[in-house]
Amino acid sequence: MEQLDRNMMQALSVVTFLLGFAHAQINVIDLTHSHDDDAIYWPGNPQYESNSFATAEHGGTHIDAPSHFAQNRNRVDQIPISRLVGPGVVINVKYTVKDKAAADPDYRVTMEDLNAWEDVHGRIPAGAIVLMNSGWSKGYPNKTLVFGTKNVTQPSTFHFPGFHESAVDWLVKNRNIHVVGVDTPSTDYGQSTTYPVHVILGEADIAGVENVAYLDLLPESGSIVYVAAIKLHDGSGVQARVFATTQPQGGTTGAAPKS
Ligand SMILES: *[C@@H]1O[C@H](CO)[C@@H](O)[C@H](O)[C@H]1NC(C)=O
Ligand SMILES: *[C@@H]1O[C@H](CO)[C@@H](O)[C@H](O)[C@H]1NC(C)=O
Repeated sequence: MEQLDRNMMQALSVVTFLLGFAHAQINVIDLTHSHDDDAIYWPGNPQYESNSFATAEHGGTHIDAPSHFAQNRNRVDQIPISRLVGPGVVINVKYTVKDKAAADPDYRVTMEDLNAWEDVHGRIPAGAIVLMNSGWSKGYPNKTLVFGTKNVTQPSTFHFPGFHESAVDWLVKNRNIHVVGVDTPSTDYGQSTTYPVHVILGEADIAGVENVAYLDLLPESGSIVYVAAIKLHDGSGVQARVFATTQPQGGTTGAAPKS
């Protein structure tokens, strides 16, 4: 009972976001049991449809828990629910100046890109979910296109954009961010062999999201993004329903870029 009470206390967090020019305070409440071996399943019954599925943790649109690359950091079910919600900050590598990702499949989001976002939209808001939109997800699920290679089983041949470690290091040290995400298979670019972005995020106890879809539908600023990851007990990652809310009629700042 004591344990239950503590879990319940952790399930409720109050988060204040700066939305456009107004502060919006929302309560974030976790209503989900941790999914472990004790999870309750309805007994089998052939009279209705009920399937089974099995999957590795890091596939499709999914979350990387901080523990994926750092010891003694949060596993999936330990990430406070308030850290899976936040103002969307979309870094449109695809639209800034030129289509950087199309010009260079090894492109990495730089400080310059973050500065350019802040020049237009102001300081990256507290709790931000910072997402790279490289346009790469239009190739999904063609592995040749998504991994940028003819040999999809050999990671040393992969070419796709990601974040530069210096930009993520700056974000972690100078801004209060909740999640970093990409529309490619990895927050580190395809040619990485040491995965420094994963390490920096893990050490900072910050989650990643990968293979995020349809980012063209999001304004660069003014949305709230939710990373609804399965509350997988001890998971290093898990599939997530990443979604966003925006205010109709441009109620907050930002407008969707035109392609
Ligand atoms: C994937 O993309 C490659 C490169 O454009 C193309 O040659 C191939 O036919 C595509 N595969 C599928 C299954 O569409
Ligand atoms: C692709 O990579 C795998 C794994 O390294 C290797 O065994 C295979 O020979 C490669 N295929 C080609 C066509 O290079």
